[in-house]
Amino acid sequence: MASYDLTPQIAPNLDRHLVFPLLEFLQERQLHPDEQILKAKIELLNKTNMVDYAMDIHKSLYHTDDVPQDMIERRAEVVARLKALEDAAAPLVSFLQNPNAVQELRADKHYNLQMLNDRYQIGPDQIEALYQYAKFQFECGNYSGAADYLYQYRALCTNSERGLSALWGKLAAEILMQNWDIALEELNRLKEIIDSKSFSSPLNQVQSRIWLMHWSLFIFFNHENGRTQIIDLFNQEKYLNAIQTSSPHLLRYLATAFIVNKRRRPQFKDFIKVIQQEQCSYKDPITEFLTCVYFYYDFDGAQKKMRECEEVILNDPFLGKRVEEEFSCVPRVLAEKLNLNYEEAERWIVNLIQNSKLDAKIDSKTGTVLMEPNHPNVYEQLIDHTKALQGRTYKLVSQLLEQAQAPAQAAR
Ligand SMILES: *[C@@H]1O[C@H](CO)[C@@H](O)[C@H](O)[C@H]1NC(C)=O
Repeated sequence: MASYDLTPQIAPNLDRHLVFPLLEFLQERQLHPDEQILKAKIELLNKTNMVDYAMDIHKSLYHTDDVPQDMIERRAEVVARLKALEDAAAPLVSFLQNPNAVQELRADKHYNLQMLNDRYQIGPDQIEALYQYAKFQFECGNYSGAADYLYQYRALCTNSERGLSALWGKLAAEILMQNWDIALEELNRLKEIIDSKSFSSPLNQVQSRIWLMHWSLFIFFNHENGRTQIIDLFNQEKYLNAIQTSSPHLLRYLATAFIVNKRRRPQFKDFIKVIQQEQCSYKDPITEFLTCVYFYYDFDGAQKKMRECEEVILNDPFLGKRVEEEFSCVPRVLAEKLNLNYEEAERWIVNLIQNSKLDAKIDSKTGTVLMEPNHPNVYEQLIDHTKALQGRTYKLVSQLLEQAQAPAQAAR
């Protein structure tokens, strides 16, 4: 199962702090040796300011009360730097903490900057210090403090690149605090900036879209409307192109969202083509399940894949939490096949005939199935498929459907 674990592909596209929830999940699922995960955690932590956390893990990993000297030194550095940044940001922080003073702010950024400068001697240096302080708090794992100050910073910042970086930080902080509504707002804000014409180079734009999609997985698989909104985002041409060129593993999440969506979307057909096309760059049991059902009309294959899907879903950090939802949709996916149009029905029957090794042909002119007379039972059921399908009482189809549903129900 570890081979279906997408963490190695996903982690490089996340902020370091966002990798922790994934590692926590993997540790719970025990897909990898515990020791390996703890080491990965320490390695990540060493690049943040969460020194105490790194020390705790070190102690439990090596069954010791001692911590290495470099961790101790690092801790002293972090504490000193935090103090220095706190002092530098103090003038603006105390302004922001004073309700009477804050009332003087208006919706006009330039007015505010002027006012802060004239009345409080707070200039660009103090505003920059607020950013550095907020960023450092974030690195320390104080996400709520960071979110507050990054928000305030954005209202005062005049450098668009810095403002963008503050927005990414705010988004990560909201995700880590599991504030899904606010996180979704920040995500949309960021998307608007990334999609705007004035956004830096095209290469940067594609990279930013890739990051945005990876970060959004946390939101879309936790927020109430997420499974609809992920389609709205990922299936947009520019985003889908980015997936196909640099992150085909994201197809797993788009595929799942299409499966769990109650109403079949008009774009669904095209999406099936995409996953079929991308088979050599990415496939997993979930995408294969969809191609079996909707592309190859191969229900035996779909049944097999369904069992593997269960494992994949259970062991995926984003999907694993919503197992019920994901699975309750599988029978519906299959049931939809009763609503076949003529062409689909024809392919279905061709497959059916091949799989059951019957002697039969389809006469496409008359829309009938021609059978060898030594199969009377089946023949009865296949006489005129156009008529039968209109009434949706096509016995063979429904029998097959029951077969296909059985394992899904067993899985629930
Ligand atoms: C978190 O950050 C806020 C703002 O920077 C600060 O006031 C608060 O004391 C910090 N909390 C901790 C536990 O460090």
